[in-house]
Amino acid sequence: MTRYDQIQQALKNKPKVWLITGVAGFIGSNLLEALLKLNQYVVGLDNFSTGYEHNLDEVKKLVSPEQWACFYFIEGDIRNQDDCRRAMHYPGLYEKSGDKSAVFMAKNLAVNVDYVLHQAALGSVPRSIIDPLTTNDVNINGFLTILAAARDAGVKSFTYASSSSVYGDHPALPKGEGNIGKPLSPYAVTKYVNELYAGVFARVYGLNSIGLRYFNVFGKRQDPNGAYAAVIPIWTAAMIKDEPVYINGDGETSRDFCFIENVMQMNILAATASDEEKNNVYNVAVGERITLNSLFYALKSALADCGVSYNKFPGYRNFRAGDVRHSQADISKARQKMGYIPSYRIYDGIGKAMPWYVRSIKGIV
Ligand SMILES: NC(=O)c1ccc[n+]([C@@H]2O[C@H](COP(=O)([O-])OP(=O)(O)OC[C@H]3O[C@@H](n4cnc5c(N)ncnc54)[C@H](O)[C@@H]3O)[C@@H](O)[C@H]2O)c1
Repeated sequence: MTRYDQIQQALKNKPKVWLITGVAGFIGSNLLEALLKLNQYVVGLDNFSTGYEHNLDEVKKLVSPEQWACFYFIEGDIRNQDDCRRAMHYPGLYEKSGDKSAVFMAKNLAVNVDYVLHQAALGSVPRSIIDPLTTNDVNINGFLTILAAARDAGVKSFTYASSSSVYGDHPALPKGEGNIGKPLSPYAVTKYVNELYAGVFARVYGLNSIGLRYFNVFGKRQDPNGAYAAVIPIWTAAMIKDEPVYINGDGETSRDFCFIENVMQMNILAATASDEEKNNVYNVAVGERITLNSLFYALKSALADCGVSYNKFPGYRNFRAGDVRHSQADISKARQKMGYIPSYRIYDGIGKAMPWYVRSIKGIV
């Protein structure tokens, strides 16, 4: 039995109260689904700036009515102190709109949040280059506001989304947590500042935190629309619609693409880790990389398995500012200290995600 199996069993036996910020987003809504399926109590905070109500609706369809009744949503902003304070408490039964189905589950539970999974942020390197002020405001001021609220509420742990972008221009491959270079974008600066603030809050106030440096996450509910969408959903959507696919650069840029299930595992492992393993940062990835050229053919082949054929060749454009050339994680620290064992490698994850993309792009989710 892995540590992840044991923790999931323990959580089922004795449910906890969680806060997920950014709950209507890609990663947040997947965490919500995972926790509700483990019969946990979840407070969610989101301002719908890049997340969607339809992500929450989809989770609702995938869990039981009793599990859904254990979710309490707050539409609010991580930059707003009142919203953050409110989000640190699971509401009493009657506050929660008198929902009778929650009666048997709500009794005997503390109303304070045990574990925070902070996902809310403005993602995307290009967005931060175009609008560094808003990225800074949300990702740094918002981070500090929710961090201070977590400290004041005395939560057991504060797990937050950092990013592989903090490795910046450091040439080492694979990337070990100890070697970071100069940031290549305002977004990377914000994620690094998050790590600095989390460290200071641990030292000064004793708040236990864990930073998770996600490497190119992909999976269901990742938004394929908009100027700042990620490569896998953009290309997959284009292929399904039989539109052109463009590669930035020569296609030999490589990434350690990480399937969402691995990220869910690591969040749960991190939140419940022993105190010795907290106040630290961990890579969350598979520890392998593929080039964008290989990714193109992997997506094309997974789509063919779903009955969608794509016969165009990719077009090549200029390299994108702020992008690192190669990215691959060393995940040995996460393995040793957290018991993290990625359950999906890149090609397995693509195969698992593809049917959802096909249904979603064709409008039948
Ligand atoms: N997806 C990746 O590959 C990846 C890689 C590295 C790091 N990350 C980090 O993971 C986290 C989640 O990313 P995602 O891919 O799910 O993005 P996403 O845009 O799908 O989700 C972010 C969510 O945060 C919400 N949000 C944004 N600003 C907010 C605010 N001021 N107040 C309240 N809610 C707010 C959005 O509405 C959205 O629902 C982010 O912190 C991101 O920087 C993601």
